[in-house]
Amino acid sequence: MSVYANYDSISTNYDKNRKATSVEIYIGLILEHFRQQKNGNSVLRILDAGCGTGNYAEAFVDAKIGKLTLFDASEGMLDQARGKLAGAIKEGVIERVSQSYLPKIPADEASFDVIMFNQVLHHLPIDNDFQICKETIASAFKVLKPNGMIIINASPGEQHASHWYYSLFKKSREDFIKRHPSRDGLKKMMADAGFNNVRTIIPLDEYYWVNDDRYMNPEGPLDKAFRDGDSFWSTVDKEEFKQVMGKLKDMKNDGTLDKKFVNEMDNVRKNMGTHTLFYGFA
Ligand SMILES: C[S@@+](CC[C@H](N)C(=O)[O-])C[C@H]1O[C@@H](n2cnc3c(N)ncnc32)[C@H](O)[C@@H]1O
Repeated sequence: MSVYANYDSISTNYDKNRKATSVEIYIGLILEHFRQQKNGNSVLRILDAGCGTGNYAEAFVDAKIGKLTLFDASEGMLDQARGKLAGAIKEGVIERVSQSYLPKIPADEASFDVIMFNQVLHHLPIDNDFQICKETIASAFKVLKPNGMIIINASPGEQHASHWYYSLFKKSREDFIKRHPSRDGLKKMMADAGFNNVRTIIPLDEYYWVNDDRYMNPEGPLDKAFRDGDSFWSTVDKEEFKQVMGKLKDMKNDGTLDKKFVNEMDNVRKNMGTHTLFYGFA
C-alpha cells in the first residue's frame, strides 16, 4: 500500500478531482506496436497495476481496447472501480479486479501483452535507492509476453511538484520531489529489468485533474475533498501546512485569493507538464 497516503479514506473523493489522462497516446502506442506483430489481431490482455478507482480501465473499455485485469492495494479504491466497471465485469471485458501489493504482481509469467502503472510508483518505499520500485519493474517484465509493452505514467523531478499550490510549500515541495526516481533513474530501472527501446513522452498540455474549474479553484486547498485529489497533501509538513492555510485564509479575507493569483502560480506546470509517459518492450 502507499507508504504515506490513506487511499481507503481518499477513495470517495478521488474521482471528484481526477480523470485518466493521455489515454489517446497510450492507445496510439499500443495499436501501433501490436499492429506490427504476427498475432496483431488477437485480443490484448492488459494489466492495470495500482488501478485506483479504475479510470484508465474505464477509458480502455470505452475505446474497446483489449481485456483488462486490475489490482490495487486499497479496497476503498477497488470498491469504486468495481462500481464504475460493473457492466464490463459482467460482460467479461474486465477479467479480474483484486487486492494485491506491489512489488508482487498477481499474474502468471508471460501472461499479459501490456502492463501499465499510472501514478503509482511514487507510493512505494524509496529505501535502498528505490529497491522496491526496481523489484516492481522487474516483476512487470516477468508477467509480460515476449515483445509485450510496459507504460509507466510518472512525474520525475520537478514535474512531481508542478501543480500551482506546490509553490506555497518550500520544504514539503522539496521533500516530495525526492520521493520520485529521476527520469534517467527510471529509464535505467526499465532497461536493467530487460525492457528494450525505452522512450518517454511528455504531454505538456495535459493534466490528470477533471477540469480547470476544479484544478484552478483558488480556495481548493482549503477543502479536504480538493486535497484528496493529490497525495502530496498527505506528506505536507504539519507546521508548514498550518502556516500556508493561515496565509490562504488571510488572502481569502482580503480578496487576493483569486484566479489571477492561481494563474501566476501555475506557470511551473505550464512549462514542464505534470507527467511523463515512459514506455518500453519486453
Ligand atoms: C494516485 S493513485 C493512481 C490510481 C490510478 N492508477 C489512476 O491513475 O487514477 C495511486 C494508487 O496506487 C495504489 N498503490 C499504492 N501503493 C501500492 C502498492 N504497494 N501496491 C498496489 N497498489 C498501490 C493506491 O492504493 C492508489 O490507488
